[in-house]
Amino acid sequence: MTELLDVGEQLGPEELHAQQLELLRATLRRVYERVPFYRASFDKAGMHPDDCRSLADLARFPFTTKTDLRDNYPFGMFAVPETDVRRLHASSGTTGLPTVVGYTENDLSMWADMVARSLRAAGARPGHKIHVAYGYGLFTGGLGAHYGAERLGCTVIPASGGMTARQVRLIQDFRPEVIMVTPSYMLTILDEFERQGVDPRSTSLKVGVFGAEPWTEEMRREIEERFAIDAVDIYGLSEVMGPGVAQECVETKDGLHIWEDQFYPEVVDPITGEVLPDGEQGELVFTSLTKEAMPVIRYRTRDLTRLLPGTARPSFRRMEKVTGRSDDMVILRGVNLFPTQVEEIVLRTPGVAPHFQLRLTREGRMDALTVRAEARADATASERDAAARAIATGVKDGIGVSVTVEVVAPETLERSVGKIKRIVDLRGREA
Ligand code: DLL
Repeated sequence: MTELLDVGEQLGPEELHAQQLELLRATLRRVYERVPFYRASFDKAGMHPDDCRSLADLARFPFTTKTDLRDNYPFGMFAVPETDVRRLHASSGTTGLPTVVGYTENDLSMWADMVARSLRAAGARPGHKIHVAYGYGLFTGGLGAHYGAERLGCTVIPASGGMTARQVRLIQDFRPEVIMVTPSYMLTILDEFERQGVDPRSTSLKVGVFGAEPWTEEMRREIEERFAIDAVDIYGLSEVMGPGVAQECVETKDGLHIWEDQFYPEVVDPITGEVLPDGEQGELVFTSLTKEAMPVIRYRTRDLTRLLPGTARPSFRRMEKVTGRSDDMVILRGVNLFPTQVEEIVLRTPGVAPHFQLRLTREGRMDALTVRAEARADATASERDAAARAIATGVKDGIGVSVTVEVVAPETLERSVGKIKRIVDLRGREA
């Protein structure tokens, strides 16, 4: 096993912490000298890079938020001259300006190394063929996966997202062992296999590396069973790098090891901002240790998780599967609800397909939620009614709030081709 691990993965705790502290101090100095935003924000907080003498001192430095990146659009957060930037990516802001991220040549190389490490943890090996169905373009998913797979020594099939009939064709003809795609688009591909009358369990695929959106253990079971593959989780965000910040190991499937030699994680109380001890749930925050073009200091991801000790990669801590983003939380009559909680319930319910949507409306001064789930093609009318009741009861008992459930006809809900949008917010539209 050890011969498969790279140098970083074999660090002992003391070596790792010493290395992290040295890199952290260098990064703090670098951004203080080169990025006016950080100089101003550290000065305002009364902090100087030299004040960081231990890893715990990082907690005294100010956070960076998505708004800060937007305020410095497009290149204000860069710590290198524009001519040293080899690639730009951007995340499509749902509102207003996108956030732009830049990479130097070294950054791109580190990114490829981390995705290669992630793929190896997922079970991929040199010589495997990897079908990449994450979108190529400004989104980091496609190109991030692509260069990491090449770095590992795999053959890449750069399918990108969309043209689902062709995805099925390519999988049958090129016979990849590994697929990288969002879990929701994998379900769209599953439908297409069935539409074409091809048994999805009969393909060459052995492993799926799924991420870019939250997904549950129930979804893992569904995909593993329907495709006869291992399904593992890959996490990342553009502001920190892209895919490959953390990865689940195929042998344990117990959460994602964070590649802590590159990205320093903290979990904080989302309201007070206080650092929480390992094991406690809160908002994940990252600080770059090695990024050159656009290092981030204490970047608030809005993703909710907790830190756990390492298992299959003992050098690094794990993060629990992300249950949701604070942005995706719906508050219904004082009860917090995440789409993943509904996913667990829908996927456990017989008679409905694994496709669902949450529609938020306002009735008077109260928000109301309708869960739309799709009937399985073979479900009878009474099975559909039973499914609707089971989902409503599941939400009431499990989450503690009443919702309306509509079980709609097969093939009526919009299918994902990339990151799925679970919540349709119709509040304020019906007046
Ligand atoms: O989604 C990078 C990526 C591409 C990761 C492909 C994995 C695979 P962004 O578009 O910047 O980058 O979106 C980042 O997506 O803050 C999370 O909210 C969510 N996310 C990403 N991976 C996971 C995951 C890419 N495995 C945002 N589980 C993050 C849950 C995830 N949420």
